[in-house]
This record gives sequence, structure tokens and C-alpha cells, in this order.
Amino acid sequence: MLSEEKALIRTLKKNTGGSPPFWFMRQAGRYLPEYKKLRAEAKDFLDFCYTPDMAVEATLQPIRRFGMSASIIFSDILVLPHALGMKVWFETGHGPKLTALKNKADVESLSLKNIGEFLAPVYEAITKTRQALPSATALIGFCGAPWTLACYAIEGGSSRDYQSVRATALRDPEFFESLLMLLTQAVIEHADMQIKAGAEAIQLFDSWAGVLTAEEFARYVLAPSKLIIEELRKRHPHIPLIAFPRGAGIGYISMAKATGVDAVSVDAGLPAWWLERYLQPECVVQGNLDNVLLAEDKNAMLAQAKHILQTLGKKPFVFNLGHGVLPHTPVENVQALSDLIREWK
Ligand code: CP3
Repeated sequence: MLSEEKALIRTLKKNTGGSPPFWFMRQAGRYLPEYKKLRAEAKDFLDFCYTPDMAVEATLQPIRRFGMSASIIFSDILVLPHALGMKVWFETGHGPKLTALKNKADVESLSLKNIGEFLAPVYEAITKTRQALPSATALIGFCGAPWTLACYAIEGGSSRDYQSVRATALRDPEFFESLLMLLTQAVIEHADMQIKAGAEAIQLFDSWAGVLTAEEFARYVLAPSKLIIEELRKRHPHIPLIAFPRGAGIGYISMAKATGVDAVSVDAGLPAWWLERYLQPECVVQGNLDNVLLAEDKNAMLAQAKHILQTLGKKPFVFNLGHGVLPHTPVENVQALSDLIREWK
């Protein structure tokens, strides 16, 4: 089947008809027993990401069980700083760790040169996944957006609110801006190579957009996203792009207007009526079922899902969660949700 005929791609290009396409952030992961089994065979998480056969298998697992309209390649946003020359590792129970960048000289020690070679296993996994997927299932590639990647690169790991990263941007704008520019270039190249390998849409994860003021949001989130989207449009006019500036609030509207992105993915904090009224006129909406409700209360979750489908399903709409599937989510809840969406008229 041609990409344009697949439900996800058709919808991202603003055509409706049939039940809305669906996929779930973190649809591959620890809530699946078969993922845990596969994961136990890998040396560590990054090794898992860089072993194409394992990444392909993890990508396909949720599709076999639930038949989503799209798969997202199994990888991580932090493979890109890794490819630029940063040290990145995952400590069980502590999330990701990186050797923090301290100044402009640290940024200058990084290089775009080796991304293609370093991330060749990711591109190989994309090509192999494309060959193995059912023909109606679209394959999504992804990148972390520059702001979120800068958060991890300057903090050296996770933080509650990235206050010290915001402070760094104010104290040493030259350092911060040079990092943001390098990451913007890196995201463009990584997305470009994913598309060339077979990705049929790209999602930009800006997981920490919600900690910023409106002014910072414009400079650190909107401006780099605009550059990335414009350049990718030039190189690949037919590939739809999805932006996910998590927690952006009314900033979701600015994202659609300022960048012309095809679709905006929305967290669970905004009600469906607001999205229908204010965001659907600007772009295709993707979202936004609460991932905590999905894990905790099947009946309430199904009621919420119906409400979202009723409110947003009349216009081009991609069903997703507000954030990733949590590790303790019962598989049967994901099954019940998938069945509901697939049978929706
Ligand atoms: O199914 C999918 O969605 C595709 C795979 C995917 C992963 N990470 C696999 C993963 C995707 C799209 C990501 C994106 C990602 N990675 C984001 C953006 C989305 C978001 O959640 O906000 C971020 C911020 C990261 C960075 C990252 N990777 C963190 C903070 C962690 C640790 C948290 C945790 O859940 O343990 C990871 C590890 C990670 N990435 C896991 C998976 C399945 C868990 C590690 C494991 O299984 O051992």
C-alpha cells in the first residue's frame, strides 16, 4: 500500500473517513511481558536500541497484539546527543545520565560529522521494520526537539523542572544558543536519515516545553521547531510532521500557527471541547487520553476515550495518549482501548 493510502498518513494530510487512526506513545515497553523478555537479553538499554533485530522486534510487538494504525521505531531521543559525542548511559531506576555540558567549548567539542555512521543501526532497524510491518501500518520516526535535548545535555539527566537549565540560558546565552543551534542541525539530519531509511512521518518530542514562560517557549521551542519543520518540508514535502510540545497549554496553538506543522500532539491536561474549538481549526490534533487513567481504571478510561472520539473524531484526528504508556499498565486495558477505537463509527 502507498504511504498516502494508510489511515495515519491520510489523516495527517487532513482527510477523514473511517475510524480515527491510533497509536500510543511508548506502545513498546515494559508493560508488555514479551518486551521484558526481550529487554532481559540485551546488555543495556542503548545496546538494545543499537541492535537492529532487537529494535525491529520491540517495534513490532505492540502491532501484533493490538493492530495499531502506526508503529513508532523503537529507539530513544538520547541516541542523538550520544551520536554527537556526548557520554550517555542508563542507570536502572535512575533514568538517563549524560556528562553535562558546561560551556561553549563543550558544545564545540561535539560534531555532526558522525551521526549517520553512529546511528546506522537505527536506520537499518527502520528499513527492516518497514519491510516486516503489515502494509496498512505506517512507520513513524522521531527525534527529541532541541529544547528537550538541551535539558538533558545541560542537566546531565532528568530534573523536575529544569530550573538550572533555564538559569544557564539566562547567564550564558552564547553557550545555550550555540547548543540549541547544533541540536537543531542534528535533529534535521537525524530526521532526514530516518525518512530516507523508510520512516513515513516524524514526531518531534519536546517533553519539557511545559516548564517554560511564554517568551522562552517562543525562543527555545517555537523558533527551532520552525527551522526544523521548514527544512524537512523542503527536503521531504510529502512526509507529515507531528510536534509534541508537552504541557504547552495555549502554546499548542502557537506551535500550529508559527510552524505550519501538520499535526500537534497534546497532553491530557486540555479538555476535548477546547481542542475542538481552538486547535482543530489550525491543525490535525493527536491525543490525548490520560495515561494514568489507562493504567488505573478501565471503565473510566473507556468512557473518557469515547468522549474524546465523540468530540474530536468528526475532523481529522489521531487517537493517542497524553503521554507514554506507564510500565504498570494492564495489557487488557490497552487491548480494550484498541478494540474501542478500531470499532468506533
Ligand atoms: O514505543 C515508543 O514510544 C518508542 C520508543 C521510545 C522510547 N523513548 C523507548 C524507551 C520513545 C519514542 C522514547 C522517547 C523519549 N525518551 C522521550 C520523549 C517522550 C517522553 O516520554 O516524554 C524522553 C524524554 C526519553 C528519555 C528517556 N528514555 C527517559 C527519561 C527514560 C527513562 C524513563 C523510563 O521510563 O525508564 C528513557 C528510557 C526508555 N526509552 C525506555 C523505553 C522503552 C525504558 C527503558 C527500559 O526498558 O529499560
